[in-house]
Amino acid sequence: MTQDPAVSSFRFGKPTREDLPRLARLGYDAAIAHCGACRNYHMTAPYLRAMGTGGIGVEFAWDSQMDVLVRATAGRRTVRWLMAGAADAGMTGLVSGLAETVPGVDHHVTIVDRCQTPLILSRAHAEAEGMAVETILGDLRQFHRDRAFDVVLMHFTTIFFEDGELVPFLRHAATWLAPGGTMIAGFLHDRPSPEPSTPPAASVNEWRSAVVRAEMAAGRIDLPEDAGTFIARLERRNPTRTTRRVPVAEVAEIVRAAGLAPREIALLPFADDEAALWGADCRQRCFVVATLP
Ligand SMILES: C[S@@+](CC[C@H](N)C(=O)[O-])C[C@H]1O[C@@H](n2cnc3c(N)ncnc32)[C@H](O)[C@@H]1O
Repeated sequence: MTQDPAVSSFRFGKPTREDLPRLARLGYDAAIAHCGACRNYHMTAPYLRAMGTGGIGVEFAWDSQMDVLVRATAGRRTVRWLMAGAADAGMTGLVSGLAETVPGVDHHVTIVDRCQTPLILSRAHAEAEGMAVETILGDLRQFHRDRAFDVVLMHFTTIFFEDGELVPFLRHAATWLAPGGTMIAGFLHDRPSPEPSTPPAASVNEWRSAVVRAEMAAGRIDLPEDAGTFIARLERRNPTRTTRRVPVAEVAEIVRAAGLAPREIALLPFADDEAALWGADCRQRCFVVATLP
């Protein structure tokens, strides 16, 4: 029997060491103080994660992503990371998770975002972990630090670039990589569907709304506004990004055009129970792992 999405028990896992409820509340306040058009996105993303209803790149295909990070950093005593667009503390959380998995490595983490909110959250998580991080408020298009990083993590920041902007941006991003460095970039693409199906967004929003109401009623989340206001934010949370979806077949070509050698492309499938929520036409994601040739 198909489960009603609104009462689905599916939840994203918690792959990092972040204290998500605490960070969600901190992000809410930071977003009020610092966000512009990104407010609803930066305000809701950490709560969705805290409630297990929002995946960001950190949550998707966790095991294989950790494998990729372990491979990309194998043999290094020191790893210089650049998080190119962060959203919240998740990417810093990946490094603290990796440090736990592979001890004895020195991690230097730099995070660039054009909004202060993700930087505040990243610093808060780093501080809780005793990690030093450098945070830089600015536009990545104007960020210059040539050949300085061993790993550049760019989780879906690609969605903010229109056709024609993406390759020049990635070419610029390639200049940040030190020789032998690795770029791990996430792309969204349309999942080919053999047959039309009901647009899934309604059921996903229903599911999230039901979870928000249940979590609030049980006093499990510290949300300083009523559930209805928060749910309305969810529906208006992506005003700044493009609708650009990169077909997966084009991803390798785009990466090559930017002067990088794609090494692997990992499609990030939904878990079975998540797919039931999103439907057959859901957006899918992939990560490309690329190096300087
Ligand atoms: C899609 S979010 C990252 C998502 C998340 N890290 C994940 O794992 O899925 C992209 C972030 O990049 C930032 N961003 C977008 N365009 C940017 C630019 N040109 N310069 C700096 N930051 C940018 C946004 O503020 C946002 O926090």
